[in-house]
Amino acid sequence: MGSREWTPDSWQGKSAAQQPIWPDPAELERVQKYLSGVPPLVFAGEARSLTRALALASQGKAFVLQAGDCAESFSDFSADSIRDKLKVILQMAVVLTYSSGVPVVKVGRIAGQFAKPRSLPTEEVDGTTIEAFRGFIVNDEAPTAKARQPDPARMITAYNQSASTLNLLRAFTKGGFADLSQVHTWNQLFVASSKEGRRYESIADEIDRALRFMRACGIDPATEESLHVVDFYTSHEALILPYEESLTRKDSLTDKYYDCSAHMLWCGERTRQPDGAHLEFLSGINNPVGLKIGPTISADELIDLCKILDPDRVPGRLTLISRMGANKIKDKLPELVRATQHHHPEALWVCDPMHGNTFLADNGRKTRHFDDIIAEVDSFFSIHRKLGSWPGGIHVELTGVDVTECLGGTEEILQDHLDLRYETACDPRLNAKQSLDLAFEVASLLRRGLKSSG
Ligand code: PEP
Ligand code: CO
Repeated sequence: MGSREWTPDSWQGKSAAQQPIWPDPAELERVQKYLSGVPPLVFAGEARSLTRALALASQGKAFVLQAGDCAESFSDFSADSIRDKLKVILQMAVVLTYSSGVPVVKVGRIAGQFAKPRSLPTEEVDGTTIEAFRGFIVNDEAPTAKARQPDPARMITAYNQSASTLNLLRAFTKGGFADLSQVHTWNQLFVASSKEGRRYESIADEIDRALRFMRACGIDPATEESLHVVDFYTSHEALILPYEESLTRKDSLTDKYYDCSAHMLWCGERTRQPDGAHLEFLSGINNPVGLKIGPTISADELIDLCKILDPDRVPGRLTLISRMGANKIKDKLPELVRATQHHHPEALWVCDPMHGNTFLADNGRKTRHFDDIIAEVDSFFSIHRKLGSWPGGIHVELTGVDVTECLGGTEEILQDHLDLRYETACDPRLNAKQSLDLAFEVASLLRRGLKSSG
């Protein structure tokens, strides 16, 4: 894949948007050398399994749920927060699978989602200009010049935190926690008392009944592995290229390069220049890759990017993550979907209803309204249905706890509530109840589409 002269560092010959200026190049080199020798976080074979799962989604046989933090934090790092995020993702997956009968491919924005592109490289604080916060892998969020200085050693902390997160995720998903018989325990107390929590409980009851029914028919659920373990994949934006380069390894089985920092990597909306360093890097790794697409892209540009990222048109290799905004999706998406149907039908379409719907609340907090999120997903489904294309998944920012970062939802979070529990390290996330609510909405859109397509 990629041009013949591709190497893990060939991106260095191109211009790289959104990179920090590391103050000490020797320190950067030391960190890169260290990271080049550490064990990979994921194995190439796992990345290939994800490619196969995404290929099924691109053929309309599965649905992708990609979800997690906007930015993982070095300070909010605990077993509880990982567990609670996993709980809500498992709950959403159960709702989607149970209601639609379509298998759900579960991909976390987790165990490596530390870097943030910024609209401005600096910000003003009390009359002085300081560097913008670029995510914990680069600098600290505190608004002082010192905290904002990029520090390459943070890449090692990010690697270590990713390793422990992944370790716990593997234990949870393979060691009994994700067993379907635990479906009730994923419903946290504060969720269970809500309307969507009760709706979830009734699905969980039906699953219990189905398991009892299987037993009564002489089928032993204990012997069916897929009821006890879950395949859960990791992903993040491949933004800080020295980090991604250092974790890239040649797979001994296939002799191909994989970025072993995550199963899937994506290119952000701000770094998708066709001749830029990010596209160069992503074109040569063999993991499944994503591409964020905002409303300014043209159909020709999109097809060019598809060719760069997936010249061999491998099903499952390329996921297009549309993030248009509820107001623009109807005008923009149809021509793009038509273009891929014609020129790159292997591409999988996923809807990110978060990043095109961000605005500043009256108190200056970045927020999103639940209704806009639903409206964008709704349009995404109807556009795909109309064109005979498969609406292959959703990509959302969420957390397992009861934050007040996005407005609306059945508990009607209002602008005045935003300060109560606004904890994100970057963009506003859906809380656990809003996430579950979204899953019910998406499940009903999926079900409706399946019915109408016979
Ligand atoms: C993100 O996913 O957090 C992000 C910055 O997205 P985008 O590149 O779509 O703006
Ligand atoms: Co974000």
